[in-house]
Amino acid sequence: MSRDGLLAGLKVVIDAGPTCEDIDPVRFLGNRSSGKMGFAIAAAAGAAGAEVTLVAGPVALATPAGVARRIDVRSALQMRDAVFSVIDAADIFIATAAVADWRVASYSERKIKKEPSGTPILELVENPDILAEVAARSPRPFVVGFAAETDHVLENGRKKLARKKLDMLAANHVDATSGIGADDNALEVLWADGGVSLPRAPKPDLAKALVACIAARYRARMHA
Ligand code: PMT
Repeated sequence: MSRDGLLAGLKVVIDAGPTCEDIDPVRFLGNRSSGKMGFAIAAAAGAAGAEVTLVAGPVALATPAGVARRIDVRSALQMRDAVFSVIDAADIFIATAAVADWRVASYSERKIKKEPSGTPILELVENPDILAEVAARSPRPFVVGFAAETDHVLENGRKKLARKKLDMLAANHVDATSGIGADDNALEVLWADGGVSLPRAPKPDLAKALVACIAARYRARMHA
């Protein structure tokens, strides 16, 4: 770990990967997030000297070098609890996780059977918005959100930056070969009075560039 890196001396909490919302012992609601983007950011932040805590949804990835602590979770509620168990000490929070927006209202302890009488109807309830809850705290860390967008990336990203009251938002251009689940990504990094485009590249390269942006904006805010 670098002692004089761009994030030296700072505590960074990163959430990554999907959440899985169990329906019964064999089924769940989930999404295609692989965790690659968040793990690459954790590696880059660690290499930049940060003390990194990585809160990981269910992914098949090894813990990157330079990560001080990894907490594995499955559901959005568990991810929220894990983030809140470490957020008080954090200087920077980076929310790369694709948190499921909904979970089932009641988990079935037994496998739901296929019945000739009809298709089951699942009642869903909204999950807490971990990023918005962290951003609403006072005092709060420097808060970086992500957004996966297929259209109007800049416009939708700016709306999300303002609505969730974030310090920075990285909006992905998602298509069949870039963004969620893929090895490459492209980001529009936005803050209140500026932004920068990070063109398509492998996620580890993008993560290094993003960490440099975060470090610069974090220092600018501290000296404002
Ligand atoms: O894991 P990979 O395969 O590498 O893919 C990376 C990624 C595409 C998943 C990642 O780069 C990304 O964009 N993550 C955010 C996905 C998304 O669209 O999030 P959202 O628009 O639903 O949420 C916006 C922000 O709020 C995100 O920072 C998200 O972590 C956060 N959020 C959302 C819902 C919720 N209940 N809690 C949250 O914290």
